[in-house]
Amino acid sequence: MRADAQRSDRLRCIFCGAVPERAEQTFRCAACGELLEICYPAWEEAVRRPSVAMLKSAWRERKMSSAAADQSGVWRFRDLLPAIDARHVVTMREGNTPVYELPECARSAGVDYILAKHQGMNPSGSFKDTGMTVAISAARQENFSWVACASTGNTSASMAAYAARAGIRSLVLIPDGYIAWGKLSQSLDYGALTCQLRTDFDGCLRVLSELVTRYPVYLLNSLNPYRIEGQKTAAIELLEQLDWMVPDHVIVPGGNLGNSSALGKAFLELRELGFIAKLPRLSIVQAEGANALVRTLKETGGTQLVPVQAETMATAIRIGSPASWRKAVRVLEATGGACEEASEAEIAIAKAEIGGDGVGCEPASAVTLAGLKKLVRSGFVKRSESVVLVLTGHVLKDPEYTLKFHRGDLLAEAGDAAALEPLRRAPVILDADADAILRLLDQAETS
Ligand code: F0G
Repeated sequence: MRADAQRSDRLRCIFCGAVPERAEQTFRCAACGELLEICYPAWEEAVRRPSVAMLKSAWRERKMSSAAADQSGVWRFRDLLPAIDARHVVTMREGNTPVYELPECARSAGVDYILAKHQGMNPSGSFKDTGMTVAISAARQENFSWVACASTGNTSASMAAYAARAGIRSLVLIPDGYIAWGKLSQSLDYGALTCQLRTDFDGCLRVLSELVTRYPVYLLNSLNPYRIEGQKTAAIELLEQLDWMVPDHVIVPGGNLGNSSALGKAFLELRELGFIAKLPRLSIVQAEGANALVRTLKETGGTQLVPVQAETMATAIRIGSPASWRKAVRVLEATGGACEEASEAEIAIAKAEIGGDGVGCEPASAVTLAGLKKLVRSGFVKRSESVVLVLTGHVLKDPEYTLKFHRGDLLAEAGDAAALEPLRRAPVILDADADAILRLLDQAETS
């Protein structure tokens, strides 16, 4: 996939700066135990630095090509990714996700307009595919016959799909009872060896970290820096879709904090390379019950992780000890972004509002709108500023949540019920009688 035969990418520890030749099985620095990232020393030399104009035109041209890698919304930007031999690339034409306007949500949040970059429109229904295509290709290049991940459901769905396409076996570790059915069913359908462990996500990741040191299995969580590189492309694609006009704010959900780190890394690299002159403020929103980053910033100024016992119905982000917290803190500092949290009721309302704009998303994605409302109230986001919400998962990932919401079974006990009521759209059960439906239409006209 090399556009430039001289290009070099390197692993580097984000904390002590060590530059190992190869990654350990755990993808942690052998010297200090922190996470690794991929860097591109060639970009520091003026003569080897990719030219903005040439890349923009190459990326446009590739859209016209019928080659699989060119049609991928990830590999189309391969010039800014680690070099992986084209023979090993496994792609499902991921990326290429739409940007939608959300007018009703904008009204509700008190801003002029909101755009949503809908990463749920990827092949397996979440943003994970953009990272998975790169990391699975790396696993294939390194000849692994097993890949594995701990997951709250979307990583596992994505990994299972890409592993099947690559002809590699996959092992999924998920918390028993805390993943949405849509996601679990994908992992089964795509043929993963699926284990529901009697623990939470953090427990699954702990077990996996031990497992990879005892068995030759390639770890595909977002600790894996190849995942992060692939996920960068959502930011590149977004800016291309906006004609390289930088939005004032980009808002992402925070779970294990890989995605916020990836998007932030992309914006910083695009500025370094001269694609953009300023950065968007990248803000991260967590569920109140899984707010480790919020607490880390408040209680330690971002110097030490404050893990929490995570609890939220937005199961995708039910994570108490986020692996990439240091990378996320760096991104918040570098872009001047904020870190917010949203309650269960605020998430549920925001999700129904995104649905009401005809777009929909899974609960974890809706924290972005819920967080935006708070950032507008606090004055951090101004009415006239441009805002992009990154919607991370498809509405069909967790239909049980949506049905419970509209039927009145979600947060029914709590004092929140009254706030949710106006957004509930329960199905109406009627006899098979046109008159009854006409009466209903009349009522709907006047309500
Ligand atoms: N939104 C969705 C839909 C997710 O599935 C996840 C993470 C996030 C947001 C948070 O992203 O972890 O990069 O901060 N899901 C992981 C999984 C953990 O296993 O599917 P993050």
